[in-house]
Amino acid sequence: MKGIGKTLLLIGATSDIGRATALIYAEAGWDVLLVGRRRVAVQREADDISARTGAHVMVHELDILATSRFEEFMSSISALPETAVCVVGDLGEQFRAEQDLEHAATVMRTNFEGPALLIGLLAERFAARGSGTIVGISSVAGERGRASNYVYGAAKAGLTAFLSGLRNRLSRSGVRVLTVKPGFVRTRMTDGMKLPPLLTAEPREVAQKIFAAAEGGRGGDVVYVRAIWRPLMTMIRSIPEPIFKRLRL
Ligand SMILES: NC(=O)c1ccc[n+]([C@@H]2O[C@H](COP(=O)([O-])OP(=O)(O)OC[C@H]3O[C@@H](n4cnc5c(N)ncnc54)[C@H](OP(=O)(O)O)[C@@H]3O)[C@@H](O)[C@H]2O)c1
Repeated sequence: MKGIGKTLLLIGATSDIGRATALIYAEAGWDVLLVGRRRVAVQREADDISARTGAHVMVHELDILATSRFEEFMSSISALPETAVCVVGDLGEQFRAEQDLEHAATVMRTNFEGPALLIGLLAERFAARGSGTIVGISSVAGERGRASNYVYGAAKAGLTAFLSGLRNRLSRSGVRVLTVKPGFVRTRMTDGMKLPPLLTAEPREVAQKIFAAAEGGRGGDVVYVRAIWRPLMTMIRSIPEPIFKRLRL
């Protein structure tokens, strides 16, 4: 298939949401650079996408915790992509994170430090060029700390704030910065959880929303995949703390 001459950089290629997003871009004629920490698994995704769509798919191995390798990674990219989507994340286990500092640190670094530092580097290159779109996948979990997942939620809150500040700073630079809050999504991350159907999206639905927002300008800068999450989170944020602390959420 003849490409349209644009490249998507997808960081987190082995994620269910990442895979669906890369496929949507490839179907639309984009070249794709898939990045992930497990080369063989990333290559498998690349082969699948190129077999299905005929798109030109490249791969790169990178661990989001290996922040000292980020500059080298940026220099190794032959051409700066038009759009970069970072979907890397780790839900972790809340109870374990309360006891095990190393686990808590991994969750914090995987959801905040790594993605924010890499997105920051990309943003500098995009700003120097004067164009580009960056999509960060955050979470509604970052809108209010809850007993059941506040280590993950705090890291996502950090990412949301980082993306917001970056968007603010680059608003006149030609670079767009989008924050996507998927709500519940049926993926490996939520495997085995009982999810309410009305609030739960499929990976392809998330990918379609990402593509529409990034390439079609639809949905604004902060995208809730299912519209119902916006009023729901407004309500959850507005519950007074004395009441909130007694709720089992
Ligand atoms: N599923 C949901 O309900 C939901 C809701 C809100 C937000 N999100 C967010 O959506 C994003 C995608 O999640 P998903 O549901 O598609 O989950 P997923 O399938 O579990 O994907 C997680 C991805 O993060 C990658 N990753 C984890 N640690 C990494 C590291 N150190 N270096 C590089 N990559 C690393 C994983 O790579 P490996 O395959 O190598 O482990 C995988 O590609 C995440 O940011 C998640 O927090 C998901």
